[in-house]
Amino acid sequence: MPALRPRRDRRNRRKRTSAGRNLELKRHYRKSKLHTTNQNTSSSLRSRIAGMPKTELHMHLEGSLEADLMFRLARRNKIELRWKSEDELRAAYKFSCLQDFLDVYYAGLTVLLTEQDFFDMTWAYLETMHKENVLHVEVFISPQAHTRRNVPFEAMFEGIDGALKQAQKQWDMTTGLIFGLQRQWSEEDAMAMFDQARPVADRIVGIGLGGPELPNPPSKFVHAFERARAEGWKTMAHAGEEGPASYVADTVDLLKVDRIDHGVRCADDPALVARLAKLRIPLTVCPLSNVELKVFPTLKDHNLKTLLRAGVAVTINSDDPSYFGGYMNENFSATQEALDLTADDVYTIARNGFEAAFLPADVKARHIAALDAYWKP
Ligand code: ADE
Ligand code: ZN
Repeated sequence: MPALRPRRDRRNRRKRTSAGRNLELKRHYRKSKLHTTNQNTSSSLRSRIAGMPKTELHMHLEGSLEADLMFRLARRNKIELRWKSEDELRAAYKFSCLQDFLDVYYAGLTVLLTEQDFFDMTWAYLETMHKENVLHVEVFISPQAHTRRNVPFEAMFEGIDGALKQAQKQWDMTTGLIFGLQRQWSEEDAMAMFDQARPVADRIVGIGLGGPELPNPPSKFVHAFERARAEGWKTMAHAGEEGPASYVADTVDLLKVDRIDHGVRCADDPALVARLAKLRIPLTVCPLSNVELKVFPTLKDHNLKTLLRAGVAVTINSDDPSYFGGYMNENFSATQEALDLTADDVYTIARNGFEAAFLPADVKARHIAALDAYWKP
């Protein structure tokens, strides 16, 4: 099969060098500063956040399927969705808990069948990230949710990998693909997925763990994570989203992860918070997701600032942006406004993202230099 190409955006292929990009960012910074000198307010930070070089380290590609793309793919593949229209689907975005959301999420992803479908979904997300000045993304896909429906592993992988490579070539964006295990299924099932992943092992940066946290504790996947580490993959797991602080501690101690996804309920155990801060284990926090899934009643109640002040390496991410009302910039700005984060806080959180990324030291340094050039010219 010939390499897939994005359907849009064939013009404007001029390659941007890092130096050129730094210059553009500096110009953008000066412009946004001029625009806002009289108001040292949240709205001035909103425009600075929009132009700021950023990472996204916690998002599920299937959770980026916007309603219009989902219906377009459904028509293309002659799949009948349980919603009759895009509006009806959007009306279903009212969740009382994680499982409530996952039911919609698993139904929606059934429109993905071919390599082109996976390419189109990934490309749409990457285009948005490029527009939002995200320099580095690490994205989750759940292979089990697709191979169980008899979607060929190769179609899923090649479609996503093709889009990631294209973003690198076209925009100099750096990317990483993470295979997310689904914790409602068995450890044997996870091991079978690893066997399928072997031929493309060097195109995968890490292994994660998602799906319903309760009642599927980290202890269920000790052997799978041992194997993932032995294969040379980075590891991370969702923990302390709905589950208790002890799941966060067990994820550190039993699964020996490099990062925790969400992790916010660690706050119920002050000793654990101190430990996460001391060990510098990053938390990939997803503020809008946490509100939509009722982890916190409102964004003002979110504990991100408390964790930041306690020295925890928190980052901001979107989780499932089409379902939770915002991509990276909206997550950053809404959180900054709700929690009254300072400009220094915003810089620290963005920097934490680059520090927590699974990137070689020189690439990390290059991205951090771009952030510094923008933030502290
Ligand atoms: N899969 C997609 N989104 C998720 C979330 N917020 N928690 C657990 N698994 C997920
Ligand atoms: Zn997630």
